[in-house]
Amino acid sequence: MRNDIPFIIGHRGAARHAPENTLASIRRAAQLGAKWVEFDVKLSRDGVLILFHDDTLARTTDGAGRPEDPSFEQLGRLDAGSWFSPDFAGERIPSLVEAIQLLIELGLGGNVEIKPAPGQARETALAVAAVLGAEWAHDQAPPVVSSFSEEALEVFAEARPDADRALLVGRLPKDWRARADRLGCSAVHMSDKAATKKNVSAVLEAGFAVRVYTINDPGRMVALRRLGVQSVFTDDPAIRPS
Ligand code: G3P
Ligand code: MG
Repeated sequence: MRNDIPFIIGHRGAARHAPENTLASIRRAAQLGAKWVEFDVKLSRDGVLILFHDDTLARTTDGAGRPEDPSFEQLGRLDAGSWFSPDFAGERIPSLVEAIQLLIELGLGGNVEIKPAPGQARETALAVAAVLGAEWAHDQAPPVVSSFSEEALEVFAEARPDADRALLVGRLPKDWRARADRLGCSAVHMSDKAATKKNVSAVLEAGFAVRVYTINDPGRMVALRRLGVQSVFTDDPAIRPS
């Protein structure tokens, strides 16, 4: 189990302080002291990996429709910041390449969550494998790649067998161990609800790291750390477990 991953991982950058999954959000996470951030990636129509969470553009941009339908150039014309605050007006949907370049500049580690559009698990995973292979700096802590899509993790594992992977689940399935082993994962990323003492202990005892999303309560952070949880994903990396 790797031990270079900090307890606090900024969720979608610093989603409480800046528009999620933007470069501004990553910068804000670093300003608040985060050493690692998580973000979600999917493909634009023309095959550019973008940082984006939802199935539609409506909540976090001034556009409409599905994020996989426009080209990257078209997505670049959308305002991905004003919905959050006028202070972030004009903030753009970034590409994964831009995000990685910023992580390198800021000295941050990253959890790349592959969140493919429906039917696009394979091409999204292959694109992530290619971009990480080309862009990630060798002297930077290796990223963790996770996904709710086991197809995406499987394809990514075939392309980059050496890269660190995590099984990402909302509920811990009974056969989680078989799934994690099959996909060559070193960790399980689970929801707060799934992170019971019993579940966390079982995963730890099997030799996997446990990281839990999304934790915005300092007391809960303390409790999870006592259980042996390695990291929490938080919208507010300014929080310190107390
Ligand atoms: O990767 C942890 C967490 O981000 C998973 O849930 O929906 O926030 O991407 P979601
Ligand atoms: Mg995510």
